[in-house]
This record gives sequence, structure tokens and C-alpha cells, in this order.
Amino acid sequence: MVLERTFSILKPDVTRRNLTGKINEKIEAASLRIIAQKRLWLTLPQAEAFYGVHATRSFFNDLCAFMTSGPVVVQVLEGENAVVAYRDLMGATNPANANPGTIRKEFAESIEANSVHGSDSLETAALEIKFFFSDLEIVG
Ligand code: CMP
Repeated sequence: MVLERTFSILKPDVTRRNLTGKINEKIEAASLRIIAQKRLWLTLPQAEAFYGVHATRSFFNDLCAFMTSGPVVVQVLEGENAVVAYRDLMGATNPANANPGTIRKEFAESIEANSVHGSDSLETAALEIKFFFSDLEIVG
């Protein structure tokens, strides 16, 4: 068994519609444990830094504006093959392409307001977890 940690964001479309519990239920049903969690309202510099890898993309400004439009919930998830397991649970970036049963198929509003973010690799997960959490805040 490979126990991994991944990083998750429940985006402003989730907090606006009061869906935090519904998404967390799906996360836990997929055998991922929420070992750290906090609710934040990102500043524009924080969103721009977090999504820096996308800085040259056409959607960057809209993405950062959306991510600062309301509160988010940031999380550390732990479980077997957590990075891939959570990406499978999230579904495709564009909800129009997401499989039935995935979070984005059930809840996402659009490719921008797509409800959740999850790390794309173990290396990214370590960086993204560090961006938001200290070791003391993570209780595995
Ligand atoms: P996320 O996993 O948070 O990573 C980058 C985000 O950019 C992505 O989810 C989408 O919500 C958002 N985004 C907006 N437009 C696009 C697009 N055309 N292609 C990919 N991602 C997009």
C-alpha cells in the first residue's frame, strides 16, 4: 500500500452554494482522509502565486479573479495513491467531459467554476501543501 498526501481546494462556487459538506462526503467515501483543512479568502497576490505555473495562459486573470471571488477551503488529503485517487474522483477539468459520479460532473458549473482543485503529481502536492499549511496543522 502506498500512502500519499495530496492537496485540495474547494473553490468559491462550492462555498457560495454551501456544498462543503457534500464534497467532503464524497472525498471520505473514496477512502481519502481529510488530515488538514481551513477556510480562507485568498488575496489576489496569493492566487497569482499559487497559480503561477499558469501565468502565461489566456485564462490566468479570470482564474485568479474567480479564486478570489469568495472563500475557499484548502485541505490535505491522505490515502492510498491519493494524488491519482483524488484526480479520478474530481473528474475532467471541463465538467462537460467529466465522468458520471465525479465531483465535477455532479457539482461543477463551468471549466472555471469547476468546484475543486487537486495536485497533479506528488512533487506538486508537496509544494502546494507547504504553500498553505505548516507541519503543525497537519494531523495524519
Ligand atoms: P485547476 O485544477 O484549479 O487548475 C487551473 C484551473 O484553471 C483549472 O482547474 C480550471 O478551473 C481553470 N481554467 C479556466 N479556464 C481553463 C481552460 N481553458 N483550460 C484549463 N483550465 C482552465
